[in-house]
Amino acid sequence: MLVRLVYVSRSVNPLDEASTESILASAKANNAAHGITGILCHGGGIYLQALEGGRQAVNALYTHLIRDARHADVVLLHYEEIKERRYSGWSMGQVNLAKLNASLVLKYSETSQLDPYAVSGDISLILLEELMATAAIMGRS
Ligand SMILES: Cc1cc2nc3c(=O)[nH]c(=O)nc-3n(C[C@H](O)[C@H](O)[C@H](O)COP(=O)(O)O)c2cc1C
Repeated sequence: MLVRLVYVSRSVNPLDEASTESILASAKANNAAHGITGILCHGGGIYLQALEGGRQAVNALYTHLIRDARHADVVLLHYEEIKERRYSGWSMGQVNLAKLNASLVLKYSETSQLDPYAVSGDISLILLEELMATAAIMGRS
């Protein structure tokens, strides 16, 4: 039984490469062992993360990482049972939102500044789809 979960949160400290790298290192170390794949979008003080895998594994990771003091204001945007994964190529792929084409964000939002708190969960999901389609996700297997 596979599920996909998407949430948004705010970085407690200004987002820099070192903090993102340390999160991605944890993800790389743990996710493969638990059959979890996904992507982590970061930028503008925000994390937007999609997790997919077994229901218990995804639920356990989510309840664990929402207590991580490096982020706050965690809001669950989307949770669904799925037949297949979208991010099977990544234990945790990453997208630097600062490097995104502003028009991609503008397509779905009021301004070119991505704010998943201000749009529906469906819109965030569609944006994540576009990131896949436009190959904006950077590798980490
Ligand atoms: C935005 C964000 C995303 C994270 N994503 C993951 C992840 O996908 N997998 C993971 O194992 N840890 C992730 N972490 C780190 C976990 O919160 C936690 O630090 C890590 O699992 C190590 O836990 P431990 O210190 O209890 O061993 C993330 C943390 C943050 C702030």
